[in-house]
Amino acid sequence: MAEIFDTERPHPARVYDVLLGGKDNFAADRAAAAEGLKANPNAATAPKQNRAFMRRTVRFLSAAGMRQFLDIGTGLPTSPNVHEVAQGADPSARIVYVDNDPLVLAHARALLTSAPEGCTAYLDADLRDPEKILAEARQILDFDRPVAVLLFAVLHFLEDDADPYGIVARLMAELPSGSHLVISHITADHDPESWARFAEIMRRQGITTRLRDRAEVARFFNGLEPVEPGVVPIRQWRPEEETGFTDAQVALYGGVARKR
Ligand SMILES: C[S@@+](CC[C@H](N)C(=O)[O-])C[C@H]1O[C@@H](n2cnc3c(N)ncnc32)[C@H](O)[C@@H]1O
Repeated sequence: MAEIFDTERPHPARVYDVLLGGKDNFAADRAAAAEGLKANPNAATAPKQNRAFMRRTVRFLSAAGMRQFLDIGTGLPTSPNVHEVAQGADPSARIVYVDNDPLVLAHARALLTSAPEGCTAYLDADLRDPEKILAEARQILDFDRPVAVLLFAVLHFLEDDADPYGIVARLMAELPSGSHLVISHITADHDPESWARFAEIMRRQGITTRLRDRAEVARFFNGLEPVEPGVVPIRQWRPEEETGFTDAQVALYGGVARKR
């Protein structure tokens, strides 16, 4: 419990919450977000557009028949959450949320408001331990049926030496044909200077921010069948409205792929 109230150190989930305009954060998180915004005033645009990408991709997956979701790096509850979107399409959808931040755990109740026909569960686990995630998720999800693995804005917290490609491959290896992988990932491709400055400020506050280019993000999908339009800046992924933002402002690549 002590770590939950460690107000001295910014945490990724809470800094992200500040940028989304949420209230579940502490002074250190607000200071880190303010520093990040100074380095790059677009830092608040990316999270909002990322949530819109989540809504579009989860609706797409639901329409494609997906009824099981493994959402790793869930973040603090922010409406709508994945289960609200998935169960809006089919109330029997089952969602497992995973995060390693104790504050997200403390707020997990808001993620567990499943429709009675479906189910939501929360795992306190680290993406760097895929075996634990798989062992616990399979208690709730049926691994004989397709599962959508959702990795929204979380892989950039893993440096290359944590083997993020191996972790994603390991997660997908356990799942049957018809399963899907969704990723959004921060990039500096469209505005190298500002995003490098932002990443450096986050790093100095103890938050790993590994910027990856398009090829590095696309590599996470190796061996899977890409869903159109492939790996693109998220605002170009099946857009439903004109946001007026540029790729440099949003600075996230996203994609969806299907396991053959
Ligand atoms: C930027 S937020 C994204 C939240 C949500 N997925 C979204 O896209 O709106 C990243 C989340 O990933 C979590 N996270 C960071 N590193 C993680 C790790 N190694 N294992 C599990 N969760 C992690 C953070 O605690 C935070 O809640």
